[in-house]
Amino acid sequence: MKIVALYGGKSAEHEISILSAYSMLQAFYYEYYQVQLVYITKEGTWLKGPLLTEAPTAEEVLHLTEETATKIKVGDIVEEDAVVFPILHGPNGEDGTIQGLLETINMPYVGTGVLSSACAMDKIMTKHVLQQIGIPQVPYVAVAKGEWKDDQEGVFDYCEGSLVYPMFIKPANMGSSVGISKAETREELQKAIDLAFQYDRRVIVEQGIDAREIEVGVLGNDEVRTTVPGEIVKDVAFYDYESKYIDNQVTLQIPADIPEEIQDKARELAKKSYIALDCSGLSRCDFFLTNNNELFLNELNTMPGFTPFSMYPLLWKEMGLKYGDLIEELIQLALM
Ligand code: DAL
Ligand code: MG
Repeated sequence: MKIVALYGGKSAEHEISILSAYSMLQAFYYEYYQVQLVYITKEGTWLKGPLLTEAPTAEEVLHLTEETATKIKVGDIVEEDAVVFPILHGPNGEDGTIQGLLETINMPYVGTGVLSSACAMDKIMTKHVLQQIGIPQVPYVAVAKGEWKDDQEGVFDYCEGSLVYPMFIKPANMGSSVGISKAETREELQKAIDLAFQYDRRVIVEQGIDAREIEVGVLGNDEVRTTVPGEIVKDVAFYDYESKYIDNQVTLQIPADIPEEIQDKARELAKKSYIALDCSGLSRCDFFLTNNNELFLNELNTMPGFTPFSMYPLLWKEMGLKYGDLIEELIQLALM
């Protein structure tokens, strides 16, 4: 059987996708699979690389170009007896667009479907849906670009009437903390909203809270399993792109050092949210936990970071499922 490993992609998380893909490519069970590399450049060009029969070197994976690989038409990956592994993070990969393409060309794929991918990638839509089923979330205000253009004062008044500083400002559709900032004043709020609008046409302003960041791994289709929670322990004010991937200023505490009933609560909320968003395959569900043990769901990542040092695979390792077996299980879930 063949696995088509799709990686790279047009999103701001292109490099993270390459890291996730490279790690997975070391771990596929090559005794059962051949792996066809398909790299999507930042510009959106699809390049077909080598067909792997063993774990590749970094050189083979990381440096595919139009000179070293074959340019193919977008989506030209239909194969008999193959499953696609979209190792793509963020917009144009984790947001339902690729999933829609794969549905259209009738290729089975790993991970959540169109609706759940699109919904989970959109922070505003996720909040609206999960609010309906009573999942606790921090207060927020959604701002559309038109509203911001027409009436900035109105947006400020609304934010300041509903929330208190500090606030966190995020593009509705992004991942890995890209375009996110914290505002303590109206001036900072203005800058932060302007920045977030560079990435999306809808922006969410969230109540900043003093909280720990707790994450739960979720795996399964109709039978859903969860991991014990892990904690992102930071020595920076918030876990932004730089601290996540460049400065390495975070450590992962697995399992999180929190009371058992809070662990259970987080797992229950993660599962409930996963089901409500119609997820399948996998997701990592991220929470805030306050000093008085209040949990708020922050977001679901339907294709979480997947290096051997990433939270999602480490959480499953803690549950007794090692990296290669986790990937194998995801492939099996895609074929169910
Ligand atoms: N969006 C990144 C890859 C994550 O959530 O892990
Ligand atoms: Mg994310």
